[in-house]
Amino acid sequence: MFLGEYDRSWDIFPPEPLTMQRAIYNAYFGFTDNPFNISPDPEFLYRSPQHEEALANLIYGVQSRKGFIVLTGEVGTGKTTMLECLRDYLDTVRTEFAFIFNSRLDPEQFFEMMAFDFDLDCDRKSKTDILFALNNLLLQQAERGRTCVLIVDEAHNLEWDVLEEIRLLGNLENRGGKLLQIILAGQPELDRKLDAPNLRQLKQRIVLRCSLDPLEPAEASAYVESRMARAGMPNQTVFPPQVLEEIYKRSRGIPRVINLICDNLLVTAFAMEQKVATVAMLDEVCQDLRLEWPGSARDRRSRSRYNVEEEAAPVSLKADS
Ligand SMILES: Nc1ncnc2c1ncn2[C@@H]1O[C@H](COP(=O)(O)OP(=O)(O)O)[C@@H](O)[C@H]1O
Ligand SMILES: [Mg+2]
Repeated sequence: MFLGEYDRSWDIFPPEPLTMQRAIYNAYFGFTDNPFNISPDPEFLYRSPQHEEALANLIYGVQSRKGFIVLTGEVGTGKTTMLECLRDYLDTVRTEFAFIFNSRLDPEQFFEMMAFDFDLDCDRKSKTDILFALNNLLLQQAERGRTCVLIVDEAHNLEWDVLEEIRLLGNLENRGGKLLQIILAGQPELDRKLDAPNLRQLKQRIVLRCSLDPLEPAEASAYVESRMARAGMPNQTVFPPQVLEEIYKRSRGIPRVINLICDNLLVTAFAMEQKVATVAMLDEVCQDLRLEWPGSARDRRSRSRYNVEEEAAPVSLKADS
């Protein structure tokens, strides 16, 4: 196969080069889907024990009307993916929910977004109207034996006054329990934020906590295998065991970084007309990504007394996801 076979259809709007390259490597490797897309797609869910447990906790928390549930984990460990799985579950059981993923909001914007996502029929600029309409929705659903859920992703970014409004929403209850189940997901700073004295009341309300850690070495390999299988290559042969071991080391078991590395390895293997990735290709990819891992040259350099200034920022695990 050569590139010329594919370059016919875009005389007017040429596709973005990387998107194009992926479409081509999918054909080259025989994938039905891009295996290492970075979107949090439940279709690609790898059920590690901790992901399984986190999801079970989220569902249990909602079902048993626990009120506040907190999910924490470093960037790229799978929090949003868990929330997307929960969203699918809520859809199947026809539970009303609002999903707020932009957490840099002031209280007015927060109420407006919540009203929009719950599709509340009211003046969405008026907090009073919104609270009234929300209360109606909650009572109406409670009469049918259902609850409602407010999901806030990236909650570590929430302003104090928004957190206080959220705490007050958690007060809405009837004899059967809390009317609104509130899930806050965020980076570990969220836990630290909730430790602040002015959030003590909110912290006391949290009845369920779950956290996600990076994958273990065997899980990281199983993760890659599982995504490859879902993309159309069961019993994958592209990443040999030695490469998988190195991918674990260099990604530190963080799914998002594993995706980034594997995706780039596939592009590299394809460009070199190879069907099997090698550690040499991995070295090149890590260099291009300016990846740091324990013991890497960059890691050693940044720890040396004569710190050399980086020519470009390394791939940061702290970047917004
Ligand atoms: N258990 C999992 N199964 C499949 N893919 C996962 C899993 N956990 C994380 N990922 C993938 O890793 C990347 C980062 O996950 P994401 O949910 O966005 O992390 P977070 O929200 O914690 O930053 C996404 O591409 C996601 O699909
Ligand atoms: Mg996320």
